Amino acid sequence: MTAGRLSGRKILLGVSGGIAAYKAAELTRLLRGEGAEVRVVMTAAAREFVSPLTFQALSGNPVRSELFDPAHEAAMGHIELARWADLVLIAPASANVVARLAHGLADDLLTTLCLAAACPLAVAPAMNQGMWRHAATQENVARLAGRGTLVWGPAEGAQACGDTGPGRLLEPADLLERIAGALCRGPLAGVRVLVTAGPTREPIDPVRYVGNRSSGKMGYALAQALRALGADVVLVSGPTALPTPAGVARVDVETALEMQGAVASRVADCDLFVGCAAVADYRPAAPAPGKIKKTAERLALELVRNPDIVASVAARAAPPFTVGFAAETERLVEQADAKRRAKGLHLVAANLVGAADTGFEHDDNALTVLWDGGSAVLERAPKPVLARRLAAVIAERFHARTAAQDPR
Ligand code: PMT
Repeated sequence: MTAGRLSGRKILLGVSGGIAAYKAAELTRLLRGEGAEVRVVMTAAAREFVSPLTFQALSGNPVRSELFDPAHEAAMGHIELARWADLVLIAPASANVVARLAHGLADDLLTTLCLAAACPLAVAPAMNQGMWRHAATQENVARLAGRGTLVWGPAEGAQACGDTGPGRLLEPADLLERIAGALCRGPLAGVRVLVTAGPTREPIDPVRYVGNRSSGKMGYALAQALRALGADVVLVSGPTALPTPAGVARVDVETALEMQGAVASRVADCDLFVGCAAVADYRPAAPAPGKIKKTAERLALELVRNPDIVASVAARAAPPFTVGFAAETERLVEQADAKRRAKGLHLVAANLVGAADTGFEHDDNALTVLWDGGSAVLERAPKPVLARRLAAVIAERFHARTAAQDPR
């Protein structure tokens, strides 16, 4: 069996009828890749969309559909399946399945074993936006959630039927993260994390801006790595071309002032803050309302200071554990440590920038992490690898501080 976050965990994947049933095949593959054992139960409608053979091949187990299957029911197969699972996830969960579960019906194998299961039950709804918005569905979902069923999604967007709106199945990678979050208690399980990433753009006029070379790669990788340790992560991002890391909530901003606003409205609800964004230190004092014409030979741009976001987080009366980055082109450790002290940070990741192949934009990076009384050198590596190392240091220092504050 593959070693992974879900090694040895038993996932019962219920697949109900809907065009999104094909995504459950990819989820099965991802779950197996993380070491999970997967058994698939399909409703009759699901079999109209995807062949059971697909799930059998991907899960490595026979697929079950029939409640009255003589081969299994002699041994009370549905009870055995319900007892076997560490988690039951129905993905996609159609409006019909949601309704049947909400009302406790047990009229096929899937709904019957859901009633019998004592393990956590999660549903990932997928349906037409009108069906999702319908009061009957909303009442059913609220009823399930009130009973402790985990409701994951739906996502919004274009639908197979041509509509746009809520009702899309969450992506398989996102569902995988939620399963891992529900079953694995990583070192940051239950810790609420706010991460900033990417550049900010400070408008000069409606078409031009002052910006920088940050791609967001480091901050996004870090958000993903913290999520993988079990944290609930909100990513406040400047403009990037990157997809949102699975399982992470993302808030898009453009300017430093917008980033400050997005952080200020969420920071009271976070335990750990990481400022990885390359926030513009200055912004044009008076952005022109219209496009500036090419008439003058010289043009002077007056800039004013932006607020320092990470410093204002650290200066709060009850600050979260506050991590900053320091991008320096020389005297890396000395200047980064001075920044740590000046901004009141619990930890700073010193990042040499301006070099040929690390720092801004590059796929690789290297960091020296500094805190009061300690340091760690994280050698050059691809940003996702480096982010996992940094996340481990952050988790360790976060808990060291929490333990030091604990009066017991
Ligand atoms: O995005 P990539 O292309 O992957 O590149 C990654 C990175 C080089 C941008 C990243 O690793 C990094 O070093 N981020 C910090 C960049 C930066 O702005 O450093 P700084 O030394 O200027 O700022 C120090 C700290 O103050 C940072 O935590 C920064 O987020 C914060 N800051 C800065 C200015 C400001 N107005 N508000 C802030 O919160």
